[in-house]
Amino acid sequence: RGPDTVSPTGQATGVDQAKMAQAGSYLTTAQGNRLYDTDHSLKAGPRGPVLLQDHHLREKITHFDHERIPERVVHARGAAAHGVFESYGTATKITKAAFLAEGVSTPVFVRFSTVLGSRGSADTVRDTRGFATKFYTAEGTFDLVGNNIPVFFIQDAIKFPDIIHAGKPHPDREIPQAQSAHDTFWDFVTLHTEATHHTLWNMSDRGIPRSYRMMEGFGVHTFRLVNAEGATTLVKFHWKPKLGVHSMVWEEAQIVGGVDPDFHRRDLADAIEAGAHPQWELGVQTFPDTPEQTFEGIDLLDPTNIVPEEIAPVQPIGLLTLNANPSNFFAETEQVAFHPGHLVPGIDVTDDPLLAGRLFSYIDTQITRLGGPNFAQIPVNRTHAPVNDMLRDGMHQTAVHRGVAPYRPNSLDGGCPFQAGADTGAYIEVPVRVPEAEKVRQAPDSFADHFSQPRRFWLSLSPVEREHTIAAYTFELSKCYEEAIRERALKVLARIDPVLCEQVAAGLGLPAPEPSEPLAEVEPSPALSQVGQEWPVD
Ligand code: HEM
Repeated sequence: RGPDTVSPTGQATGVDQAKMAQAGSYLTTAQGNRLYDTDHSLKAGPRGPVLLQDHHLREKITHFDHERIPERVVHARGAAAHGVFESYGTATKITKAAFLAEGVSTPVFVRFSTVLGSRGSADTVRDTRGFATKFYTAEGTFDLVGNNIPVFFIQDAIKFPDIIHAGKPHPDREIPQAQSAHDTFWDFVTLHTEATHHTLWNMSDRGIPRSYRMMEGFGVHTFRLVNAEGATTLVKFHWKPKLGVHSMVWEEAQIVGGVDPDFHRRDLADAIEAGAHPQWELGVQTFPDTPEQTFEGIDLLDPTNIVPEEIAPVQPIGLLTLNANPSNFFAETEQVAFHPGHLVPGIDVTDDPLLAGRLFSYIDTQITRLGGPNFAQIPVNRTHAPVNDMLRDGMHQTAVHRGVAPYRPNSLDGGCPFQAGADTGAYIEVPVRVPEAEKVRQAPDSFADHFSQPRRFWLSLSPVEREHTIAAYTFELSKCYEEAIRERALKVLARIDPVLCEQVAAGLGLPAPEPSEPLAEVEPSPALSQVGQEWPVD
């Protein structure tokens, strides 16, 4: 498994060495030399100066000095668990992915997170939650790197640094640590109105989940599946929690955040330890892969859109069970590296411009965060498929590669031992036709409607969810120092719904503006309300 783990002299390296950490009955240095004392520095007499020659002292302190690695630039605060994904086989008509064949069980590692706060921030803040799953399949690793909200703030990855700069603490005072109640956040989302939909989800009860175990998860982007015959289908991935979808109310979140800022990670770990293994069903909404890549007028490449489940039902394809806690937070939860480009045969990407930027970003940031290009060798990141990657050397290389010719074809190393080609079960990108067009920095016209989908979401909420949402907007906007931003936010709300706008305006003591354009005519989608969302009801 993984890169070569045995050196030419037969000594264990890499993962085996990692397993050996803390083995044996004696306290030792990192070199395995036994120690007789680790509590006293070597000194010239009991009251004398400490001697520079004390290697154990220097090794222990030097290692401690370097214990921290940079936290993730986003999603820094998280908790994770191991589990298993069991496929129902219901997706075999649309994908050749081996782990989705009937009855296949695949080990997984799942990390949940908040987005904006630092590693030590509270779990209970109003924020989007990450829901990232690593499937260790026989064909290589597949990562489904999603969120608990099905839409995103922006339509093009080039704005990602901007939205994150706006959402993170103000650069002068470094506050607020993890909440959306501040000027730059509201400035951004009211000037970039494609953020309206995601912001509305954040202000709804979805922004303060009761538990990681009670959240939906979404792949957000549209993906392209391909079956054994080469036929393609566009899909959106959904995780449906068996425990239903539940939130805290705001006051609960405030109390819990004060009493136990680790509430969500404790809840997940305690539940798993007690044998209450949380479960989600993975499902797909399917759409014909037409050249337009739209469904019922909805642009499937626009990540600010959902497709209502009433017109495209979620079809279950497998069951995820989280059944084991990590044994070491740093080794596993902190060092795990997800990437939306970790794909297996049968699953491909689409031209969603947000997804394109993500495909670049994750590996780039992980090279810094995890200290060089060899983080795929860290045990939690190791694929469960054999690796012959011709990648060599680099910081923290733990494999001892053999041979002299890491290229192919070669005429050394006994010829090229590794096969490549279309008939080897290799990953082959779907040969989608690239449009013939002029190079432009421009969004398509179909990305221009920023208000119909938020209005649909608002109309789908139950009265109590609407009440909570009004209270959330009122509270968060009341924290803005700039009145102009509050006024601009009300103009955005006027285009979602007059009641929402009037009630928030009343709470802020400001006049409610009229909508600048007629309101979109949309039908509610009951599946968007949390109320009564048990999946499946059994
Ligand atoms: C991390 C989801 C958009 C850059 C994450 C994580 C999740 C996630 C779940 C945490 C992974 C973990 O637990 O380790 C999403 C979703 C997006 C999105 C659902 C939109 C639909 C973007 C975009 C970019 C980006 C557009 C950049 C262009 C990052 C980076 C990290 C990250 C740099 C930190 C990765 C690490 O240090 O390991 N994202 N993200 N994300 N995301 Fe995204």
